[in-house]
Amino acid sequence: MKILAIETSCDETALAVLEVSGRKTKPTFRILSHNVASQIELHAQYGGVFPMMAKREHAKNLLPLFIKTMKEAGFSSSKVKSPKSKESQIAKLKKILEREPELLAQLLSALPKLTKPAIDAICVTVGPGLEPTLWVGINFARALSYIWDIPIVPVNHMEGHVLSIFPQKNQKQFKVESLKFPVISLLVSGGHTEIVLVKGIGKYKVVGRTRDDAAGEAFDKVARMLDLPYPGGPEISKLAEIARNEKLIISSEKIKLPRPMLYTKDFDFSFSGLKTAVLYLIRDLKKLTENDKKAIAREFENAVVEVLVKKTMKALTKYKARSLIVGGGVAANKHLRSELTGMCKKEKIDVVFPTRELSTDNAVMIGIAGTLSYLRTKKGARYDSKRLVADGNLSF
Ligand code: KG4
Ligand code: ZN
Repeated sequence: MKILAIETSCDETALAVLEVSGRKTKPTFRILSHNVASQIELHAQYGGVFPMMAKREHAKNLLPLFIKTMKEAGFSSSKVKSPKSKESQIAKLKKILEREPELLAQLLSALPKLTKPAIDAICVTVGPGLEPTLWVGINFARALSYIWDIPIVPVNHMEGHVLSIFPQKNQKQFKVESLKFPVISLLVSGGHTEIVLVKGIGKYKVVGRTRDDAAGEAFDKVARMLDLPYPGGPEISKLAEIARNEKLIISSEKIKLPRPMLYTKDFDFSFSGLKTAVLYLIRDLKKLTENDKKAIAREFENAVVEVLVKKTMKALTKYKARSLIVGGGVAANKHLRSELTGMCKKEKIDVVFPTRELSTDNAVMIGIAGTLSYLRTKKGARYDSKRLVADGNLSF
């Protein structure tokens, strides 16, 4: 079986083709091709993601990326006619893509060359994320599903992050190994910060979440205060690492930040107060030196990581989980990785991180989540199904 996966929930347009074989419960996957077109450079000019601008970028990038991904997966285009009558097909596609005129125009011009490939299903992210951008991916999936007459599998982006750990060490071929359930998953991205109890694949319960900003969002906002470019996470992380390597002690006494909700009984987080504390700190320092910036970056990263690690450990203990899965863009953070690894070693807990490439948004993880759900339920949606709705706040 081969599947096409599409991800457009935020600022990365991502596509993948996966080949699936073997047992239904423990299939083997092969990544035939996967591509990510990042909009980071565009959004960096504005210091953040504007949904309507992101939507236009997805609409512009999807078809060229799709053609590239299909080609790399070994599907060649030819002039074979589609079995459906042309006029009715075009009318239908116009309806499906009525809100994505640019994508429609590109698709209609590519249509004569779009041979039906040996793809069995399309997996697409339906939420959570930015609704305008999610719709572009969904409508593109609907158009292809209509042309090729194959089912669509709606995928929860967060489940994608949980299951993004299977391809380790940039393997092209990997098995879905059985994990020791229950597993705790810490999902930390630009839009989410959640602790999820995973009782099995497809069985998730959010047991803790941020009450305001997501961890990645806090990194991005603090980076902005420090005049660092978007996305701020990697930039803060770099500065913090320099401060640690230099054993910077200058101004470290005045640079102290709170650890919000560190001792609360729940598994929730709050990062907006931390961000405000940084704002006050900068205001009180009056003139921000390069060393101040480094010290703030280190203290801020220490604060975020300390709370994340402490609450994750609490959840592991409470739910008697022996395995931890970390996912989302902030999972790329070196300090978080090293602190979590240290804690898990001490507590004899297995910890798995996705590869750096698959930590941030990608379509491979959407393909894995969608395929496993499709194999379990054999349920796909048709292009006109009411199940195919973008849900910006979709939860487990
Ligand atoms: O999962 P992701 O690619 O997109 C969302 O679904 O949000 O996560 C992006 C977020 C951004 O906020 C970015 O600043 C953060 O992940 N991030 C990091 C690092 N790399 C990316 N945060 C801290 N340290 C990093 N090394
Ligand atoms: Zn994400």
